[in-house]
Amino acid sequence: MTSAQRYDRTRGASFPVRRPQLDFSEVRQRFYDDNALGSAFWAVLQALFPDGERFFIRAVHDVRKRVDDPDLQRDIDAFMGQEATHARMHREVNEKAQQIHGIDLETIERRMAKITALFNRFHSPMQRLAMTAAAEHFTATVGRYLLRHPEYMAGFRDLPARHLVMWHAIEEREHRAVAFDVYRKAGGSYWLRVVMFPWMFAVLTPWIVFETLRITGQMKGYEDRAALRRGYLSLLGPKGILMKIGPGMRDYLRRDFHPNDDDQSALEAEWKRELGFA
Ligand SMILES: [Fe+2]
Ligand SMILES: [Fe+2]
Repeated sequence: MTSAQRYDRTRGASFPVRRPQLDFSEVRQRFYDDNALGSAFWAVLQALFPDGERFFIRAVHDVRKRVDDPDLQRDIDAFMGQEATHARMHREVNEKAQQIHGIDLETIERRMAKITALFNRFHSPMQRLAMTAAAEHFTATVGRYLLRHPEYMAGFRDLPARHLVMWHAIEEREHRAVAFDVYRKAGGSYWLRVVMFPWMFAVLTPWIVFETLRITGQMKGYEDRAALRRGYLSLLGPKGILMKIGPGMRDYLRRDFHPNDDDQSALEAEWKRELGFA
């Protein structure tokens, strides 16, 4: 990723907007651990991003006029720049995966667009911002897991997939406090914050499980039971990613929670070196 990325530091925000260029034409269908279930999980997450991240941008945009802190305003611009780049990049990757490997991510993107349209229609700006702050805590917590578990990251055997996931994770870490701080400065309450958190996951989780199983069924060799078990353990086993992020996710319920309490800057610096970030 070192040769073809560009930076935009002109806005004076506390983190940059990067525009990496990655070539996904050689990335295999089972890009995580050569495993149908593990790869399907990541493919589905990536299919949620284009519309999910547009939803986050809109939620922050709709409340930003209530923030009078110029530093935070600059970080809002950078947040929007990062999320817009993530949405665009994941859209391209999803399209390529569908064309080359025949997995149906377009349907998931379309359904996600309908779900976010419903959220936009039926939730107030502060409710949508609370959902965004919760989702940002999820992505930052997944990012923390990836930083702290090189053995899990080793499952991304194709370099463009490894770099895509870690580029996104690092930037989720960089902007993890933006939606939360906008929510607080706009007068968002503790109770709305902790109610919208389980609400959003209650709506999305059963559907994500369904889509993960559906996409698993479209992967080559999905019927291999030993591989399915390995994929299951990587997600929901005692050391699986979804089990390990549990305590970090629960931190969000603390009254005195702030996203920047969790500092992983030393690990982030190591990865930034691998990714060639300045
Ligand atoms: Fe993102
Ligand atoms: Fe984000």
